[in-house]
Amino acid sequence: MVRYSMPGRWSLTDLSVRVGKTTFKNPVLVASGTFGYGEEYSELFDLNQLGGIVTKSITLNPREGNPPPRTCETPSGMLNSIGLANVGVDRFIQEKIPFLNKFNTNIIINVAGSTPEEYLRVVEKLNHAQGIDMLEINISCPNVKEGGMAFGSDPESAHRCTSSIRKVTNYPLMVKLTPNVKDIVEIAQAVEDSGADCISLINTLVGMAIDFRIKKPLLKTVTGGLSGPAIKPVALAMVWKVSQKVKIPVVGIGGITNTQDALEFLLAGASLIQVGTSNFVDPQTSVRIIEGLKDYCEKNEIKRVMEIVGKLEN
Ligand code: FUM
Repeated sequence: MVRYSMPGRWSLTDLSVRVGKTTFKNPVLVASGTFGYGEEYSELFDLNQLGGIVTKSITLNPREGNPPPRTCETPSGMLNSIGLANVGVDRFIQEKIPFLNKFNTNIIINVAGSTPEEYLRVVEKLNHAQGIDMLEINISCPNVKEGGMAFGSDPESAHRCTSSIRKVTNYPLMVKLTPNVKDIVEIAQAVEDSGADCISLINTLVGMAIDFRIKKPLLKTVTGGLSGPAIKPVALAMVWKVSQKVKIPVVGIGGITNTQDALEFLLAGASLIQVGTSNFVDPQTSVRIIEGLKDYCEKNEIKRVMEIVGKLEN
């Protein structure tokens, strides 16, 4: 709960959000793959202010990722094809979690794998670690040949993957969905049925960019994942559709750069939001949004930020 005073009177604004058994101090998280393991950003602002940090995807073994160039700028956004580069779960537990645990914010570990067994082995190792609040299961990465988005592209495999993870861990599960599917609602429902505590969407849209002068793609892998303000309308529509059809909380992701964007996602039905690409433009985006949400609630005499969730009128 955030208490603060205004000249001449006391005010009380509750920015906290409860998702299952997990309480977030505010609804603003930073998205996986845009915040590393928090180390660099901790030098730029006070991470204690965040509602949560979602780490870069962790796999069983260290991964170098895809060859460069693996990012490029596009109109109102960017493409990435990182290929799940990460330090591997053992080093992550030894070196990165202790650092993240210095902060009073929720720590959400994004888990990925090339096979269903790999997800399970990563989760089983994380079961023995301290200071993890939630897992975000990544069944939506568009940049790997095996696994990734393949597990999130049809309801059966999304169900199988989530329910097998549900059986081996007590951690709350957030499952991150891909927009590169025929019907994201049926995938969300399958994930809900398999025991997820919440659903995050959207991961990136498959895209590509070409330098016509040299007749070459800008990414070495040719295609990559599009993120940033360019995808916000797509993300809003999917969050709105999914949140009408599932009972578990929805976490909105896609081109959020300011308080207005965050409010739009809350109105569309998101209980939490994740700031992604904007972290590269202004690392303090999340803090600005948290302050902006406080001001908005104060000015509109909203006692709890949760009151806004799903209040879209049409
Ligand atoms: O290529 C990548 O590492 C992207 C991951 C993701 O979109 O989940």
